[in-house]
Amino acid sequence: MIRVGVVGLGYWGPNLVRCFSEVDNCKVTAVCDQSYDQLLRIRDRFPGVYPVEDFGALLDRDMVDAVVIATPTATHFELASRALEHDLHVFVEKPLAQTSDECRKLVELAAERNRVLFVGHVFLHSAPVQKLRELILSGELGNINYISSRRLNLGPVRKDVSALYDLAPHDISMMLYLLGQKPESVSCSGLAHLNAGIHDVCNLTLQFEGNRMGMIHVSWLDPRKERVLTVVGDKKMAVYDDLDQEKIKVYDKGINAPPPSADFAEFQISYRYGGSYSPWVNEREPLKAECMDFIRCIDDGDVPTTDGVNGFQVTEVLEAAQQSLLSDGQAVEICRDEEGVGAG
Ligand SMILES: NC(=O)c1ccc[n+]([C@@H]2O[C@H](COP(=O)([O-])OP(=O)(O)OC[C@H]3O[C@@H](n4cnc5c(N)ncnc54)[C@H](O)[C@@H]3O)[C@@H](O)[C@H]2O)c1
Repeated sequence: MIRVGVVGLGYWGPNLVRCFSEVDNCKVTAVCDQSYDQLLRIRDRFPGVYPVEDFGALLDRDMVDAVVIATPTATHFELASRALEHDLHVFVEKPLAQTSDECRKLVELAAERNRVLFVGHVFLHSAPVQKLRELILSGELGNINYISSRRLNLGPVRKDVSALYDLAPHDISMMLYLLGQKPESVSCSGLAHLNAGIHDVCNLTLQFEGNRMGMIHVSWLDPRKERVLTVVGDKKMAVYDDLDQEKIKVYDKGINAPPPSADFAEFQISYRYGGSYSPWVNEREPLKAECMDFIRCIDDGDVPTTDGVNGFQVTEVLEAAQQSLLSDGQAVEICRDEEGVGAG
């Protein structure tokens, strides 16, 4: 039985307490928040768990084998490092840390201590994203030309991180997973309307090897909630709308262009307007699937899909996007894998 402690009981943490409480071979034994009010709230809902205000006390009391960190991003590195130094397995909410340098140190520490370091890129555990990956890997969509993603809503506005760091980790993690590669460069533009220096709306362009592109639009200052990711292949196209009951739709649509020719008269393109279908996807809760995967990796000694290296790669893109944001949208290069972390 793996004993879990959940740290940070604000908006998101209680969801993790609920999900871990429902996972087999795991028991939430303790919860930690520096706010006494948050502890009282959770103690009423989950009377069996031991509440602590001080993270140090949680580590020293030998009550847990693993910690789940759902505190603000700026605290992730310190809390995760301390937990790993106590030989605990660690689940950190997205993004893994504020900088790629911090992520690298966490990956190294987890390896040294032989502990699971798991990042909360929850969409990689969702059935629609698994289905999209299947569609890509099976070749049904053909060569992928681009992926675009919109994550818009009116709020919730954060003061500690921008819409880039709060929202885009989801889209970046999905794009890296679906394409199976890191981008070569990133450019980003955006605006901070509500709080100086904290961007409310951002547009990112990710350039991938092989003439592939990713476009991401995130905003908490938009009249409509949208959660749409479109994969455009040269055979078929697929749309994942997280707010639709039929979450994935595959379109047999495309444009067939003739090989490049100097003679304009010969240049005739044909449009393909085929039908569409919605493949069946399992309706499991992604957060619960994510919690189960963390426990499974601890039990079986498996490397998670959303491991520290994955967390590093997503943070690397965020960091480059932030750099681009501050230099008028100029493209910023991402280092190649062999220069990054986890290179063999
Ligand atoms: N996966 C998702 O879809 C998703 C959704 C929302 C938030 N998140 C992530 O969850 C994390 C928390 O976000 P939130 O919206 O719940 O934030 P929040 O501000 O609502 O809650 C954070 C909580 O952490 C506590 N805290 C801060 N520092 C602490 C410390 N040193 N020790 C103990 N407690 C401490 C605060 O008192 C607060 O209760 C962030 O990393 C965020 O990106 C993920």
